[in-house]
Amino acid sequence: MKDTYILGIETSCDETSVSIVKNGCEEISTVVLSQMDTHANYGGVVPEIASRMHVENITLVIEECLKKANMTMNDIDKIAVTYGPGLIGCLLIGVETAATLSYIYNKPLIPVHHIAGHIYANNLVSKMEFPLIALVVSGGHTELIYMEDHYTFKRIGGTLDDAVGECYDKVARVIGLPYPGGPLVDKLSYEGKDTYSLPLPLDDDSYNFSFSGIKSAVINLVHNESQRGNEIRKEDIACSFQNRVVEILSKKTMRALKEYKVKNLIIAGGVSANSGIRNKFTELCKKKGIKLTIPNIKYCTDNAAMIAVAGYFADKAGKVAGIDLQAKANTSLFEI
Ligand code: KG4
Ligand code: ZN
Repeated sequence: MKDTYILGIETSCDETSVSIVKNGCEEISTVVLSQMDTHANYGGVVPEIASRMHVENITLVIEECLKKANMTMNDIDKIAVTYGPGLIGCLLIGVETAATLSYIYNKPLIPVHHIAGHIYANNLVSKMEFPLIALVVSGGHTELIYMEDHYTFKRIGGTLDDAVGECYDKVARVIGLPYPGGPLVDKLSYEGKDTYSLPLPLDDDSYNFSFSGIKSAVINLVHNESQRGNEIRKEDIACSFQNRVVEILSKKTMRALKEYKVKNLIIAGGVSANSGIRNKFTELCKKKGIKLTIPNIKYCTDNAAMIAVAGYFADKAGKVAGIDLQAKANTSLFEI
């Protein structure tokens, strides 16, 4: 069978990324240009700045990716692009670029949902085995998804308010860590002890999550301690917070694996880089005989390799777009 080379483009937030992936599983080359240092000056992503930077960089990133792969556009079979969800101005740059390339070079255009991309980052690690459950934990999403086969997504639960990554970043800010604080809270948690009695968030029989309560609990704790003139032990807050988050995520996910009789768990999204999550799930899955797949750290956060992989399977599932493809700031994975 002829090999299929897909060029993926991802610009949904603050990474301008382009990648070429062969047959939905073999990475040929990937370039990720992160704007994180620029946005760190503002304490978060500034949408207007992000989209301007995508405009400046996208063609350079495409050229670099092709050069790294020693390929030209003639070697590319199809183009996959993130059409949503994300920052609308940012998505537009990727979508317009992909549509233009598709038109000029006469290549099919494949629309990819950002969360499908995160899930499919795992196919670069090991072939996904169905049925499976995907735990998606990122800056904007927290979802438990059942997949009977490629490109079928059934939501079995998710956050009712904040996403896990969002909550990590807010807790980081409250304890005085710079943006993006998630990785710093993770690191700091190993220097502390679980001494603060934070609540286990939404500890019920559902597969839903709620992180706004634990976020408020941390804010109140810091506020009360400083009003009393007490020292705030940041590392102990980080440790207590991380333990609670990992506990609730693992408790509900392991229950879902049992109920849905699934032998493959995949974890995806920026927060899957979290060492507490990686360690806990590794331990639990080993004990229960579940195959666990987590992306390599560099593919946990936004990148175009995951979009090219998802594009391969989206294409097989019949997802095609015309050059009038619309970027969508809000779009559910479960409608496509
Ligand atoms: O998937 P992603 O790159 O962007 C979205 O699509 O949302 O995820 C970014 C999020 C940020 O909130 C960041 O703080 C969080 O992932 N994150 C972490 C860690 N690494 C990244 N959160 C906790 N622990 C980490 N090690
Ligand atoms: Zn993402």
